[in-house]
Amino acid sequence: MLRACRGEAVDRPPVWLMRQAGRYLPEYRRVREGATFWEMCRDVDRAVEVSLQPLHLLGTEAVIFFSDIFTPIPNLGIEVDFAPGPRVATPIRSLAQVEALRVPDCRESVPFVFEILRALRRELAQDQVPLLGFAGAPFTLAAYLVEGSGSKNFGTLKQMMYRAPEVLRALQELLTALTVDYLNAQIEAGAQAVQLFDTWAGILSPAEYREWVLPVHREIASKVNRKEAPFILYVNNGAHVVDEMLDVNADVLSLDWRIDIGALARRAGTRVSLQGNLDPCALAAPREKIFEMVHQIARDAAPARGHILNLGHGCLPDTPVEGVRAFLEAAKSLGSATQRNVR
Ligand code: CP3
Repeated sequence: MLRACRGEAVDRPPVWLMRQAGRYLPEYRRVREGATFWEMCRDVDRAVEVSLQPLHLLGTEAVIFFSDIFTPIPNLGIEVDFAPGPRVATPIRSLAQVEALRVPDCRESVPFVFEILRALRRELAQDQVPLLGFAGAPFTLAAYLVEGSGSKNFGTLKQMMYRAPEVLRALQELLTALTVDYLNAQIEAGAQAVQLFDTWAGILSPAEYREWVLPVHREIASKVNRKEAPFILYVNNGAHVVDEMLDVNADVLSLDWRIDIGALARRAGTRVSLQGNLDPCALAAPREKIFEMVHQIARDAAPARGHILNLGHGCLPDTPVEGVRAFLEAAKSLGSATQRNVR
């Protein structure tokens, strides 16, 4: 997995799934019983247990620590709940609210995150499986903090971009500083690669992405300790900004299924490795069809300097476990021969 991130030679594409630790797994639901999502995130033993479930039960080839992109947010002074998506008690709408936020040292404000990572690294010492850290991108975090919850088109956020750009700019600046520090602290605690999730940047036009998001992605990419841990950038619904994403200088671009991975693999050349990009809904397909789709993605992505098989977005609560198993088996059935033949 780490070699593929850096574009070094591999026998076949490694495989993991975004949201691989979650409600589609009966074993996750059992551990989650009687606890709130926040309690799960803060309980080191339980978080370690569910982080390892996809590895032990299904054989994924990377472990992402169990948490959420909102984990460091309450310590800024913002109340967030899950129902099941994030809900912000008092949405951010003014400069005064941004100025009132604190940015505490994450090592002190969310120490359990780093305990979870250190415990997972110890657990994984025997396996040749890397540990992944992650953070929410400032734009996506800001989208929820301004809107107050998820939304179809984030009208309040977009109004802010045009009516009070200084508020969004100040909020993103604060969140960028938080994100850089949070990812670097995760790397110190044992994360071997880190992924930045920008779920909502795709609502922007290419011009808006260039103005509001590209500089933030570039800043984070330049300040994360990439000698220790490759930097993976995920933008959901980002087919129209993929050329801009190439300019971020990430180690890996994680793609959703709306992107032609073959065309991008040829364009990206040696600049970046690619991750993705099966539609999570496609895991409902019969086993043979899943094999066919996985082999097709691997053939298409083969011209890339490196490819990591993954979904185009997180595993959904109603994803059939059999579909996930078929996906992993299909990935592992790819031989180096398949790779060579297409090159
Ligand atoms: O990938 C993993 O296995 C690691 C854990 C992880 C979670 N959330 C656990 C989770 C990661 C990496 C995330 C990222 C996340 N969280 C994103 C970015 C990626 C994406 O999916 O777009 C976003 C936007 C969030 C915010 C969030 N958290 C939403 C919208 C929801 C509700 C949606 C849903 O799946 O129900 C959550 C809750 C959440 N985060 C759950 C899990 C396992 C479900 C909690 C539960 O058990 O009830």
